[in-house]
Amino acid sequence: MGQPSPARTHDDWWRSAAIYQVYVRSFADGDGDGTGDLAGVRARLPYLAELGVDALWFTPWYLSPLADGGYDVADYRVIDPAFGTLAEAEKLIAEARELGIRTIVDIVPNHVSDQHPWFRAAVAAGPGSPERELFHFRAGRGENGELPPNDWPSQFAGSTEPVWTRLPDGEWYLHLFTPEQPDLNWAHPAVRQEHEDVLRFWFERGVAGVRIDSAALLAKDPALPDFTEGRGPSPFVDRDELHDIYRAWRAVADEYDAIFVGEVWLPDSERFARYLRPDELHTAFNFSFLACPWDAERLRTSIDETLAEHAPVGAPATWVLCNHDVTRTVTRYGRADTGFDFTAKEFGTPTDLALGTRRARSAALLSLALPGAVYVYQGEELGLPEADIPRESIQDPMHFRSGGTDPGRDGCRVPLPWEAGAPYAGFGGEPWLPQPAGWAAYAADRQGEDPASMLSLYRAALRLRRSAAGFGDGPLTWLPAPEGVLAFDRTDGLRCVVNLSGTPAELPAHTSVLLTSGPLDAEGRLPQDTAAWLRA
Ligand code: GLC
Repeated sequence: MGQPSPARTHDDWWRSAAIYQVYVRSFADGDGDGTGDLAGVRARLPYLAELGVDALWFTPWYLSPLADGGYDVADYRVIDPAFGTLAEAEKLIAEARELGIRTIVDIVPNHVSDQHPWFRAAVAAGPGSPERELFHFRAGRGENGELPPNDWPSQFAGSTEPVWTRLPDGEWYLHLFTPEQPDLNWAHPAVRQEHEDVLRFWFERGVAGVRIDSAALLAKDPALPDFTEGRGPSPFVDRDELHDIYRAWRAVADEYDAIFVGEVWLPDSERFARYLRPDELHTAFNFSFLACPWDAERLRTSIDETLAEHAPVGAPATWVLCNHDVTRTVTRYGRADTGFDFTAKEFGTPTDLALGTRRARSAALLSLALPGAVYVYQGEELGLPEADIPRESIQDPMHFRSGGTDPGRDGCRVPLPWEAGAPYAGFGGEPWLPQPAGWAAYAADRQGEDPASMLSLYRAALRLRRSAAGFGDGPLTWLPAPEGVLAFDRTDGLRCVVNLSGTPAELPAHTSVLLTSGPLDAEGRLPQDTAAWLRA
């Protein structure tokens, strides 16, 4: 195993943590079958320790038919055999902890797999049965019940497919995502009890935190009324009952000193902050920063709004540039539209990868310097681009449910390149999603030897961030700067400057340059799309 790194050992580690997202299926394949697995992760723990992250968030690793990449869970207490065993997961959690790395697991409370024993029992038991009360079963509308019970839109953006499926016995069931993901009825006490038990199950195994999938969707208006966007509160998004659920979860987490991070996509910052009250979730993903275009003024506004919305509840912000659902950073920043919008994704968008990579390097230094916790999605530290997946290889249901217009999310889920000279760039067996030509150029071993690589930048930045007390949680003070330049101070003399203007910028006063995302020009100025960390 690699060298244990100085962990953030204090209780509020999560307020400043750098958390690495592992999409297990695509991380590293230990047994050569083409699917990433726990053996692969265990073998790469030294790499993660060297990278300098404080925690790993694992996307769902439980038993699953993989109708939605594992977000369709058939059994929370079983690791999918394609990934390994529960005993291996326990070993992994312990080995990571020895290296100073905590583990966060992913819980998907809005729905289960249609292969989950509860749903199978509900289907078998028929209309009117208590088994069906755990889900949302309803009679249809229309003369013979042939129309869905309501008009709710799919939660897969761009999907035109209904959120109701009819069973042969005539009843319909609700699924905000695919038909293989039936929504649970959170008004039922057994649903609440089961999830609290599942939390305990993982906390007992040494897990330090839980990421909550689709955290604002669980509760539904029991009348399941029709819904027109913009007319009153939604019957299925951000309902007040959710806060009671999360208060109960918080009580469980507090017994174990564990933390939550919620997947909360909400435009209203006041509503968003409610989830972060002191007796609810510790943190939530900052999607407005993720979706923000590469523009100085808009980024500054996004940062200010983020800090302002978190301050009243005392929760730390999180900074996220990408994840397993969105277009990879270097690609997004290399396009005419540098923001992110689920409904605007298309095939064949022109991309300038050199430009996108320069910006992504600056964005890395920016986000790692901001107050709070930061997320790094596997492959982001390698500067991987979004891959063009040949249509016949696409697996993501988002693509199919859009009628084939949305490219889906497979392009950011391609198995990682580890060794430039090995078959499949050292991932393992023939990958479940094809790696594009030239993938080996991004291999971790090659980048590790190149001081100018994205990996070397992330390693240096994470190491500095970890050792300098002024980063992570704490105040931020903006410095005066020319238009298009972001400059701010953290504590302990740490200063960050990012040039998004069209011309080189003078560095603000400093005693030393700690790190830059690219070379300074001959006059010692910061070129366009370059960032620097300075000591004042
Ligand atoms: C979340 C996940 C996404 C999944 C969806 C349904 O948004 O991040 O991958 O498809 O929930 O569970």
